[in-house]
Amino acid sequence: MADNDSHRKLRIHALRYNPAKAGDTPRIQTYELEEAPGMTLFIALSEIREKQDPSLQFDFVCRAGICGSCGMMINGRPGLACRTVTKDLEADISLAPLPVFELIGDLSVNSGKWMRGMSEKLETWVHAQEKAIDLKRIEEPMDPALAEAVYELDRCIECGCCVASCGTARMRQDFVGAVGLNKIARFRLDPRDKRADADFYELVGDDNGVFGCMSLLACHDVCPKNLPLQTQIAFLRRKMVVQGTQG
Ligand code: SF4
Ligand code: F3S
Ligand code: FES
Repeated sequence: MADNDSHRKLRIHALRYNPAKAGDTPRIQTYELEEAPGMTLFIALSEIREKQDPSLQFDFVCRAGICGSCGMMINGRPGLACRTVTKDLEADISLAPLPVFELIGDLSVNSGKWMRGMSEKLETWVHAQEKAIDLKRIEEPMDPALAEAVYELDRCIECGCCVASCGTARMRQDFVGAVGLNKIARFRLDPRDKRADADFYELVGDDNGVFGCMSLLACHDVCPKNLPLQTQIAFLRRKMVVQGTQG
């Protein structure tokens, strides 16, 4: 935690391992660089790759907290490299890839593959009402408060930080994680989706869904978009319990 005028020497300790390279073994590699004003971890890593080590792998697309691709373990906690400023950290910074997801190499993981699997399993798209082909209904505006509530949950950028922080996700390969439960909460709210509560219960009313969640709440703490994961999961669980007793 530096004041703005100091030029600290940062030491970035990055976990290096390329599973595609025969004989490679996991190791920590330390890079030293001078901190610049307003430096983010993304800028620091880019400088390292440009000036010191072009082989260092990490992901980014938007650099603005929108695409969700730069998630990594920052001092043991999942976060976005492009939204983390170095001045908020000690001079020694440890970086590692997000656990749970398939490792591509170094700090790069294939979270997209995991998200696709979850998305296909939970069918995370609007299952439109047949009546939706009635043009008059399509034009019907959504109640603003409801539209706001759907939009709030739609802010998920699929960064995977919630999954990486979750003890259940680490133990249970098919657990849909807070990201999946949030999506179910989002589509359940959407009046254009014809699925009933019983259909959603079918999708997440088991140990890979709502009942696998042990309320550890790390997901809620690390979500970079501050999604109300705790509230959504608790609400879904209550609904599912009621649905289960009725079904
Ligand atoms: Fe990332 Fe939050 Fe979405 Fe999880 S719920 S994937 S932490 S934005
Ligand atoms: Fe995991 Fe969050 Fe539940 S951390 S156990 S999904 S409350
Ligand atoms: Fe897109 Fe960080 S690079 S969220």
